[in-house]
Amino acid sequence: MSLFICSVCGHIEFTEVPTACPVCESSAEKCIRNDRIFEESTEKSKEAAIKHIPAVTVNKKCGLIPEQSCTDINVRIGATLHPMESAHFIRFIDCYVDDTYVSRVDLTPGVFAAGCFHLKTTGSKVTIVEKCNVHGYWNREVSL
Ligand SMILES: [Fe+2]
Repeated sequence: MSLFICSVCGHIEFTEVPTACPVCESSAEKCIRNDRIFEESTEKSKEAAIKHIPAVTVNKKCGLIPEQSCTDINVRIGATLHPMESAHFIRFIDCYVDDTYVSRVDLTPGVFAAGCFHLKTTGSKVTIVEKCNVHGYWNREVSL
């Protein structure tokens, strides 16, 4: 799969270059192709996987918005919780349904390495991408 990384905000688009970044609206020229971005993180720090691969739980019964058919995607980074310190933290968690970007959770050292997405859209799979300021990009796909 082709991967295009926005050099301004770090967002990744799958398959093709967007006309504008859906997160920061930068133009297509700001997107740099690197199909191996996830492999590069794993190769650089194999032992880091347990703290970086997103742990994803799908909850089809949302407690917050029960009056609509909302699917909750709960994410924590990772099986062993990632630290959130000023020198080492998770910058963001991006969520995609069937390879189309739907939302981002921006994080700072003031919160835990976790987030929740309340999905309106239906699809067959969710992809979660997270970026660590030290260890780069990590991802996980789950079926809906
Ligand atoms: Fe990290």
